[in-house]
Amino acid sequence: MCGIVGYVGSRKTAEVLMDGLKRLEYRGYDSAGIAVFHQGKIEIRRRVGKLTHLEELIKRETFDGVVGIGHTRWATHGRPSDENAHPHKAGRVVLIHNGIIENHLPLREALKRKGRTFTSETDTEIICHLIDEFLEEGCGPLEAVQTALEKVRGSYALGILFEGNEKSLIAARKESPLVIGLGEGEYFIASDIPPILPYTRDFIFMEDGELAYLSPEGIHLYDATGHEIFKEPKRINWSPLMAEKGGFKHFMLKEIFEQPRAVIDTIRGRLLEEKGDVLFEGIHLEASVLKTIRRICLIACGTSYHAALVGKFLIEGLCRIPVEADIGSEFRYRNPILGKDTLLIAISQSGETADTLAALREGKRQGAITLAICNVVESSLARESDHVIYTYAGPEIGVASTKTFVTQLVILFLIALRMGRELGVLSQQEGRRWIEELVKLPHLMEEMLKSSKQVFEIARKYLSARDFLYLGRGINYPIALEGALKLKEISYIHAEGYPAGEMKHGPIALIDREMPVVVLATRNDVYEKVLANIEEVKAREGKVIALVSESDRFHMKAVDDLLSIPDVDPFLAPILLTIPLQLMAYHIADLKGTDVDQPRNLAKSVTVE
Ligand code: AGP
Repeated sequence: MCGIVGYVGSRKTAEVLMDGLKRLEYRGYDSAGIAVFHQGKIEIRRRVGKLTHLEELIKRETFDGVVGIGHTRWATHGRPSDENAHPHKAGRVVLIHNGIIENHLPLREALKRKGRTFTSETDTEIICHLIDEFLEEGCGPLEAVQTALEKVRGSYALGILFEGNEKSLIAARKESPLVIGLGEGEYFIASDIPPILPYTRDFIFMEDGELAYLSPEGIHLYDATGHEIFKEPKRINWSPLMAEKGGFKHFMLKEIFEQPRAVIDTIRGRLLEEKGDVLFEGIHLEASVLKTIRRICLIACGTSYHAALVGKFLIEGLCRIPVEADIGSEFRYRNPILGKDTLLIAISQSGETADTLAALREGKRQGAITLAICNVVESSLARESDHVIYTYAGPEIGVASTKTFVTQLVILFLIALRMGRELGVLSQQEGRRWIEELVKLPHLMEEMLKSSKQVFEIARKYLSARDFLYLGRGINYPIALEGALKLKEISYIHAEGYPAGEMKHGPIALIDREMPVVVLATRNDVYEKVLANIEEVKAREGKVIALVSESDRFHMKAVDDLLSIPDVDPFLAPILLTIPLQLMAYHIADLKGTDVDQPRNLAKSVTVE
């Protein structure tokens, strides 16, 4: 998400930091800042917008310090603004943070009661105050950091400066990446390799719970229990471009592999395991409001529309409210009938898609309650909706949506669960069971990503097909649509997603021995029917690539290629089924040599009608 750099050495610190931040620009950000010692004091400069704004701000300044930290922010808690930009300061402590602090609200309240005042809306600022509290209680910097971090729940990569310690910086990591670069009498920290690559190729990769103390004399590393440890540096010989992509060939592949992490970040702090319920900060859709809602309209475009189609099954299934899913560009032109009893949920990665925005405005005009599901904080959709729930997938650079789709599915599941609980359709026990199932997903996704090689072999086999058919039924049908969309977007092969039961009403005419048919045949109410659809394809010599539940793997004989997903509840299967379809589209496109990250004619954000 955010980008972090830190430096200890004898170069011009601000220049090293700004150069590092530029090398992190590819990740996307909405504000930036640096903190550098000058004449013994920490000077902080922050600006919303592009790095050029920050450059403009500091261009006539000189800083004599040899230690500093820099940050590019991708907003999660609090809009993009100068005040919310990092570094943050409280008392003697100045820090930058990448990650999400789950328990920031209770901590903020507790710190306020102690007389602490906050100057930003961020979760980050509470870490500054906490560390400063422990400094005031007499701890040294390292101990203050260790003690403060015991109090926070969530993820963090931190770079921390202390007023009065102008020769050192402390770094800490939990569930957000942080690397240390080892130079000659100089040391670097960064959230990613690129900012450090021009200076050194020797890296230490910090692990969860580790802390590092950096000064020009050297570094000291501590494990989660506070014991000093030694780690052998690793030599990284990546080119700058490889480094930006984290060693992956394309951003899209990197983003596919980031999905387990994106899901963890999206559910973080939102699950009330004991109550079997979900908490959405600042959203007051309580029973009195929900009971007035007669129907829900889910509106979106492209991949986000496919999430909406899955959302219809989830919400109708878990809370028994009628749901319609509509395409943004169609919605307002079909003269929709809305009103105060309609909840309109607009789904968009970018939050800037013109058709989705127009549909939202139509909903507002007719008095509907509006809610946005969005990945970009303070986007137009987020600002114009009555309520907003963010997916915390982090910036998505590949034009083809991957991790943002999966996190949209997770949010829709959480909304269904919340409403089901609030309306009394789901019991506490059922809520708990769903949460137990949900939290298993990131691990299962990790396991599935290991099948990338197997998917590659299938991709190689069908590389020269002219057309693909993707079939699914019920909640898996939208995933068939998404699989087909991914393939056409990036490989330029014609592909169609179809409800499997509809095949005999037309598309069956296309099937011959040249036609690969991807069939989503995981266990659910219509499983037997999908097996019959497979038979229909085989009878016409079509090539079947079947995606099945793990436990059915060995009964599935009549197919040409087989992939499986772990046995999960049918409501959660779409999340897992998405992964092999993304990988198949990716490998086919890569083998064909297309521009995977920027496919022809496509834009990441479609801001025109
Ligand atoms: C998906 O891979 C595409 N990039 C596209 O269909 C996209 O989902 C659509 O344009 C909607 O974008 P949004 O989610 O930003 O609104």
